[in-house]
Amino acid sequence: MGYSDIYAAWKSDPEGFWMEQAQAVDWAEPPKQALFDRGDHIYEWFADAKVNTCYNAVDRHVEAGHGDRTAIIYDSPITHTKHTLSYAELQTRVASLAGALRAKGIEKGDRVIIYMPMVPEALEAMLACARLGAIHSVVFGGFAANELAVRIDDAKPKAIIAASCGIEPNRVVHYKPLLDGAIDIASHKPDFCVIFQREQEVARLEDGRDVDWHAFQYGVTPAECVPVEGNHPAYILYTSGTTGAPKGVVRPTAGHIVALNWTMKNIYNVEAGDVFWAASDVGWVVGHSYICYAPLFAGCTTIVFEGKPVGTPDASTFWRVISDYGVKSFFTAPTAIRAVKREDPKGELAKSFDLSKLQALFLAGERADPDTIEWAQKLLGIPVIDHWWQTETGYSIAANPTGLELMPVKIGSPSVAMPGYDVQILGEDGHPLPAGELGAIAVKLPLPPGTLPTLWNAADRFRKSYLDAFPGYYETGDAGMIDEDGYLYIMARTDDVINVAGHRLSTGGMEEVLAAHPDVAECAVIGVTDDFKGQLPVGFLCLNSGCNRPHEEITAEVVKLVREKIGPVAAFKLAVVVDRLPKTRSGKILRGTMVNIADGKEFKMPATIDDPAILDEIREALQTIGYAKA
Ligand code: COA
Ligand code: AMP
Repeated sequence: MGYSDIYAAWKSDPEGFWMEQAQAVDWAEPPKQALFDRGDHIYEWFADAKVNTCYNAVDRHVEAGHGDRTAIIYDSPITHTKHTLSYAELQTRVASLAGALRAKGIEKGDRVIIYMPMVPEALEAMLACARLGAIHSVVFGGFAANELAVRIDDAKPKAIIAASCGIEPNRVVHYKPLLDGAIDIASHKPDFCVIFQREQEVARLEDGRDVDWHAFQYGVTPAECVPVEGNHPAYILYTSGTTGAPKGVVRPTAGHIVALNWTMKNIYNVEAGDVFWAASDVGWVVGHSYICYAPLFAGCTTIVFEGKPVGTPDASTFWRVISDYGVKSFFTAPTAIRAVKREDPKGELAKSFDLSKLQALFLAGERADPDTIEWAQKLLGIPVIDHWWQTETGYSIAANPTGLELMPVKIGSPSVAMPGYDVQILGEDGHPLPAGELGAIAVKLPLPPGTLPTLWNAADRFRKSYLDAFPGYYETGDAGMIDEDGYLYIMARTDDVINVAGHRLSTGGMEEVLAAHPDVAECAVIGVTDDFKGQLPVGFLCLNSGCNRPHEEITAEVVKLVREKIGPVAAFKLAVVVDRLPKTRSGKILRGTMVNIADGKEFKMPATIDDPAILDEIREALQTIGYAKA
């Protein structure tokens, strides 16, 4: 059966479709019912079943006789280290870590924050939590102590598992002082912290609070897998929303296993024993789904790559890894390919590697620009597949299901809706729009298994952010259109979220930081188009009257402040002082118009603008920092 048959089969009987996919999972108690309607547009999947995530990722493969198969390849050009872990070794290590966590009181439902770089131990920590039914929350290493503190206060973890350091090309990232700082700032204090000491930096352990990763496992009884209810949260992953307070996306256990397992063959066309590589970071959803869980559910070999597309040591790294390990499906962000293309425009470095096993390159996390797709297609001679999804869904809403049927690639489109998703384009009045018309992209409820049922500690915010705008639909926050062939086009966000180098960031969050500067009376942050990173944040500052300090001093201070409060990943380096911000007569800042000016796009003068002359001032200010294209 091809794509349209499978999609039609799902649409005619969604519950039957997912019950069938559920057969690929090893259940402690199989589901009798697929969908549970909790009323008021809240749904859960497989809530009557019992299952364990770690058992499905690790133990079942060992029990089936595949213990010798490689589960994880660790390749770290940044530390010049490589090693592998078989499924049997992974089982032993995870059971031991889980046993040690249990001995220190971690039980089903307890939260554990994981703050680690791209080392296999990060996956082991995630799996050890899953083994116990503890709920992990991984925090990306590029965030500052303050962001970690916000997550500590929201998740209220009983334990934090951290590494002593991460390594960026230009510096060692001292995780331990960031962790200590975050715990100082946070009101909630964890019972204990487990520190994985790396040889690049051995951190000082806090008496009575910190335990060493190896020492605390000494002599413990390994833990068995604890079955949990199908709707038990597997993890919380914080992602950027409109304000500085991140949204804690909850991932339900059973649906997560069922859906991710389905995607491996049907979307990525890989099976047990194949090597699958997602070059992302465990701190993002791509890392959760496609570095850790999905490849392991499917019995594949996954690669934990600690490096960058360029500079570790050069733009050949991706091709070297693909060739060394016989990668069959490769997934990364368009920015990463742009980085390689920038360093090696003719792709000369790829030529000395055997890339014959590579079947397809998958891109997601941000818009895939046609130049990048075409460059990769020409270089690799394989399908380059754009696919669209979000932290909230955990896997593709729209993709080209290469294992089911390779559909014609339309450059600029992440192809078609996947089974589970009835995607519609809605007008402002909430009615579906015809093909070719631009509107809000929404998904008819219920969302499929594995997608977020709520936000952690924030059921009201969940409703307001996703369900209230269009009753009966999930609002994705993206705008776009669907063409006559059912191909989707993602054009822009409808909220204050921007995408910088494939990283999802909140301009609202940055504005909160700028507004806290004592000289700033008012501010706005917009995302301007950038050829390399997709978007870049630019800050506009209006100063308090009477402030006569040099503008360069103040802009340098706010740049430093964003790095300190949010983290280097915000990539906030551009700020400019202006006299006024363009506003509507009712006082709303016209951020969209400012973006159009920066990007040199034609735009209609907003009818409600208070004073059109301000737009010229904005253009001039952008020109002083090299960003007004017209
Ligand atoms: N820990 C600490 N700091 C980090 C970090 C981490 N895990 N990841 C990034 N940073 C820092 C960088 O060192 C950089 O710091 P600097 O300002 O001191 O140079 C800053 O955050 C901005 O990083 P980034 O925007 O990633 O820019 P870059 O120039 O360092 O790298 C790319 C550019 C394209 C190589 C890189 O962004 C990349 O590989 N992108 C792919 C994105 C991706 O995988 N996204 C996941 C979704 S699929
Ligand atoms: P994240 O939750 O970090 O995965 O970011 C999700 C957001 O990134 C989406 O809502 C989109 O705005 C954007 N995005 C992800 N994938 C794509 C894609 N293939 N094309 C365009 N935008 C994308």
